[in-house]
Amino acid sequence: MTEVPEHLLKRSRDRRAALGLGGEGGGEAATPAAPAAGAEVEPATPTAAAKPAAAAPAEVEPTPPEPLPPYVEAALTRKRIPFWAMPVLAILPVWAILYAGSLSPAKVGQVSQLDLGAQVYAARCASCHGGGGGGGVGRPLAGGEVLKTFPDIESMLEFVAIGSDGIGIGNGYGDPNREGGQHIAGSYNGNKMPAFGEVLTDTELFAVVRHERETLSGEKLEGQAAGPDGTRLTSNGKPYLDAAGQLVTPDGQPLLDASGKLTIEIAQGSPAEPGQPSGR
Ligand code: HEC
Repeated sequence: MTEVPEHLLKRSRDRRAALGLGGEGGGEAATPAAPAAGAEVEPATPTAAAKPAAAAPAEVEPTPPEPLPPYVEAALTRKRIPFWAMPVLAILPVWAILYAGSLSPAKVGQVSQLDLGAQVYAARCASCHGGGGGGGVGRPLAGGEVLKTFPDIESMLEFVAIGSDGIGIGNGYGDPNREGGQHIAGSYNGNKMPAFGEVLTDTELFAVVRHERETLSGEKLEGQAAGPDGTRLTSNGKPYLDAAGQLVTPDGQPLLDASGKLTIEIAQGSPAEPGQPSGR
């Protein structure tokens, strides 16, 4: 054991004296405490049960309960997760997996043209033509009506792209031999069909026209026109939309020009009677 220098011992003694602890013990700080502890235990031995019980609290009292550290206190007093939330929490990981799975792109072509068409129709056309195509501000399209006006899809694409003004109020559009007479732009209560060529992409235009023809008006695709994955092709099996989603002719040229007009001649009405004057 190293020698404690005398001046340090003195300082310790003086300090203890100043605190009224009677520092005669010198450097051995433990010495005064030890007899005190022993003194307390000693009386406990003879009077067996009663004394220790009394002694124990007496011993605890002098040391005030240490304040809990804030983080322990927070842990003890924080709100517990409510019992009912447990099933929710248990299902969260399952939900996360399902959700992640649903983010993977749906099969291309299977977000079918018809599904897209139904969405575009609901957003852009149903307000005037009715949700089921029964008509309203706009002409009825359902129940084969639109097929009578447009036996071919190409002139219908043009009509929807350019609207009544593109046809010219007073001009006929669609099949000149339509039953009941060719439809004349502006003749339906004076209401006008807006032009959608600038509003919709070619893909949307094609899709919504398909929706009106096939879903609302009941047109059936036959032969090569029924392409794979629900796509619609020309009767010669050529695509209407190119890889970039643009409407194209069977030769791959743009089907509609910048103003929305057809770039190719489409024979209107029955091929047997071309050039027949309108209105029968
Ligand atoms: C603001 C009302 C309005 C909206 C919106 C509208 N249409 Fe029309 N649509 C009309 C009117 C009115 C006519 C009749 C045009 C005329 O007589 O000049 C018409 C006619 C048509 C026709 C011709 C029907 C026939 O047998 O003559 C087609 C096809 C058509 N609309 C498709 C569409 C499509 C597709 C959309 C949505 C992209 C659409 N319309 C949105 C009012 C509307």
